[in-house]
Amino acid sequence: MKSVLKLQLRSLLLIALVSTGTAYAQAATEVEVFKSPSCGCCGKWIEHLQQNGFQVNTHEMNDVPVARKKLGMPDRLGSCHTARIGDYVIEGHVPAADIQRLLKEKTKALGLAVPSMPPGSPGMETAKPVPYETLLVQADGSTRVFAKH
Ligand code: CU
Ligand code: CU
Repeated sequence: MKSVLKLQLRSLLLIALVSTGTAYAQAATEVEVFKSPSCGCCGKWIEHLQQNGFQVNTHEMNDVPVARKKLGMPDRLGSCHTARIGDYVIEGHVPAADIQRLLKEKTKALGLAVPSMPPGSPGMETAKPVPYETLLVQADGSTRVFAKH
């Protein structure tokens, strides 16, 4: 009798674990984007995320740098928009594939940044793309190259 109860408890626990796991995976693809209402390339970057399966909630504001500061992203790494995915901060025109890799590898970091607005990055499509880097940013502001494009 005792062992049957134990078994039932164990399967209940397993169900609980599995369902939390699913909830987490869904939450991870939800993105909060902070942008100015007049920014065209921000809108294009949002479309790029949506095309790659992210669910985007947009917050329009006139002072994006305030949102950036609140999220802890250094100004010197700034771009036209800033975003939050789970506990990560994503600054600028970061490719969706880099974000997906970060979420998968769960690297300890503040987040990712593509400073400024490099021509050829997602949302900045052009006939004359330039090479650019996605930086992994730590909470103390230090960076290392996460991906080269
Ligand atoms: Cu932009
Ligand atoms: Cu933007």
